[in-house]
Amino acid sequence: MNAEGFASIAALVKARSGIVLTPDKEYMLETRLTPLLKAQGIQDLDMLAMRLRDPRAESLARTVTEALTTNESSFFRDGKPFDHLKRLVPGLLPARPAGHRLRIWSAACSTGQEAYSVAMVLADLGVRNAEIYGTDLSREVVERAREGVFTQFEVQRGLPVQMMVKYFRQESGRWRVVPELRAMARFEERNLLSDHRMLGRFDVIFCRNVLIYFDPPTKGRVLNAMAAQLAPDGVLYLGGAETVLGLTDRLAAVPGERGVYAPVAQRAGAA
Ligand SMILES: C[S@@+](CC[C@H](N)C(=O)[O-])C[C@H]1O[C@@H](n2cnc3c(N)ncnc32)[C@H](O)[C@@H]1O
Repeated sequence: MNAEGFASIAALVKARSGIVLTPDKEYMLETRLTPLLKAQGIQDLDMLAMRLRDPRAESLARTVTEALTTNESSFFRDGKPFDHLKRLVPGLLPARPAGHRLRIWSAACSTGQEAYSVAMVLADLGVRNAEIYGTDLSREVVERAREGVFTQFEVQRGLPVQMMVKYFRQESGRWRVVPELRAMARFEERNLLSDHRMLGRFDVIFCRNVLIYFDPPTKGRVLNAMAAQLAPDGVLYLGGAETVLGLTDRLAAVPGERGVYAPVAQRAGAA
């Protein structure tokens, strides 16, 4: 494809999702978008770029953006955040009013493994009064997360056998989360770049393995927005390759805990 076509698709994807596509990602455009070109009868990527310039091509723009997201996920990914959560929750609850519903946001939840891993941790702790809110930009993955059905390959990646037996039921060669776990989670399409203020406070936020696709200003903007939604004693979990350093002063690393961040108290009147 020509450089102009690449640049215009990259600009569209960045504006809609924050995802930065550098010129070395041209191969990715080809592999991810070829099925779409075939399905829509569009000759090639340059023609697609032309079509996308039409402001009425909203649905096409959305499909292209979603096709360029990377939805890799697994149960209990990286282990440590879930061990930390197990230790954190028993300490958080006494600081809450009686009957408080624990709120945990799995932002950029992909197909739901992260949200259901959180649900398993809470269920094992006997915490049922909780709302796990899973959100993602991609409609397709949100639908899959809602369905709560995983392939043998997906459950084999990271899910301990005893958890699988306890919290999943086999169904036509696949594995469905049990209703009690499913009921703890709610999934919605949501762009990390949108305004989250109406969502209210969360006790814990997981925002892992998504900031890596953004440029520093976008990372900073998302981190500030997350900090604003966190309870003062809440925590934010980031992916192993992600940090808040140099991006926001509203969050600070929890000493000795990799990937765990806490809100920094803001002075009254501070922006
Ligand atoms: C690699 S997955 C991470 C899934 C999960 N958090 C984990 O760590 O296993 C990244 C997800 O971020 C989502 N994503 C990318 N840009 C987004 C945006 N602007 N808003 C919401 N989700 C986004 C993608 O659709 C994808 O499902």
